[in-house]
Amino acid sequence: MKKTIAILPGDGVGPEVISCAVEVLKKIGQKFNHQFKFLEGIIGHQAILKTGDPLPKKTLEVVEKSDAVLFGAIGDPYYDQNPHLKVRPEQGLLKLRKTLGLFANLRPIKVFPSLVDNSPLKKEIVEEVDFIVVRELIGGIYFGKKGSEEDFAFDTATYTKEEILRVSRLAFELARKRRKKITLVDKANVLETSRLWRKTVQELAKNYPDVSLEMMYVDNAAMQIIKKPKEFDVILTENMFGDILTDEASVITGSIGLLPSASIGEKSALYEPIHGSYPKAAGKNIANPVGAILSAAMMLDFSFSLKKEAQAIEKAVEKAISAGVGTYDINKENPVSTSQLTQKIIEFI
Ligand code: IPM
Ligand code: MN
Repeated sequence: MKKTIAILPGDGVGPEVISCAVEVLKKIGQKFNHQFKFLEGIIGHQAILKTGDPLPKKTLEVVEKSDAVLFGAIGDPYYDQNPHLKVRPEQGLLKLRKTLGLFANLRPIKVFPSLVDNSPLKKEIVEEVDFIVVRELIGGIYFGKKGSEEDFAFDTATYTKEEILRVSRLAFELARKRRKKITLVDKANVLETSRLWRKTVQELAKNYPDVSLEMMYVDNAAMQIIKKPKEFDVILTENMFGDILTDEASVITGSIGLLPSASIGEKSALYEPIHGSYPKAAGKNIANPVGAILSAAMMLDFSFSLKKEAQAIEKAVEKAISAGVGTYDINKENPVSTSQLTQKIIEFI
């Protein structure tokens, strides 16, 4: 198979972990006889520094020429201390999501058996946790009308039925391949948009009689994710709630550095570790590359239908981790570096 992959390493630890994922993909290419071509583009803070634009036109051209996108991270502490800045790295990612029509963000939350003790929660609670959050990604309060004056500001949450339907269909199809349970998370006791979500999803559920649908308010969901995470299979939710709940859920696994994600659209898809730019670790060769490497595995699976190849990566990651090879976030006593962990994974492939 021949595929072109856009590589957008971005800021912070992005470049380090993405180059690990690229090495792993090269190894998979060799072993399974595929040709992966990599095209690089700049995005985020580093793109602002070079061009003044967090998503330069050149980067969009690279992305449009590619079959899928592998993305690192964006963000820099400089902007967090300056809320008045008008040009921000996040705009690059948000615009990319919107331009590519990436309406569904999938974030699997799975606990590695050998890492249960790494979780801040009790072993009995986290053992065998395996759920996935399907977050709507290009609607809601992120993209609604917004504005500000000196002493006043507003953001608007809007959803159309069609925006709800396309991501919900994907969630139901996914649930069919799993334990066949969907939890719709909303705030339907307060928000009009949430009531539209409930109505629309309940109606859609009639087409999937084999999938059970549960509905939960977001405040309660925030509790249940910590109290009984095993109860969840597929969580379906809107953009902002999904943003918050996936950060919460990532803590269960013991390290956010382990977690991959996929953002899926009609025609393209973007894969990204969920840990963000982690500026304190940048350039030190200590960040966990597993989130990025597993994101590459998700790409092989979802975008290229290369199941065997994706599994080869997942198995190698599991082997390395259960052999006790881990970066500082998962092995405080005897940590290895980002590149050492990657080499181990490649060895196991
Ligand atoms: C995420 C991030 C982004 C979001 C930011 C960087 C815009 O937090 O991917 O979850 O809020 O969606
Ligand atoms: Mn987030």
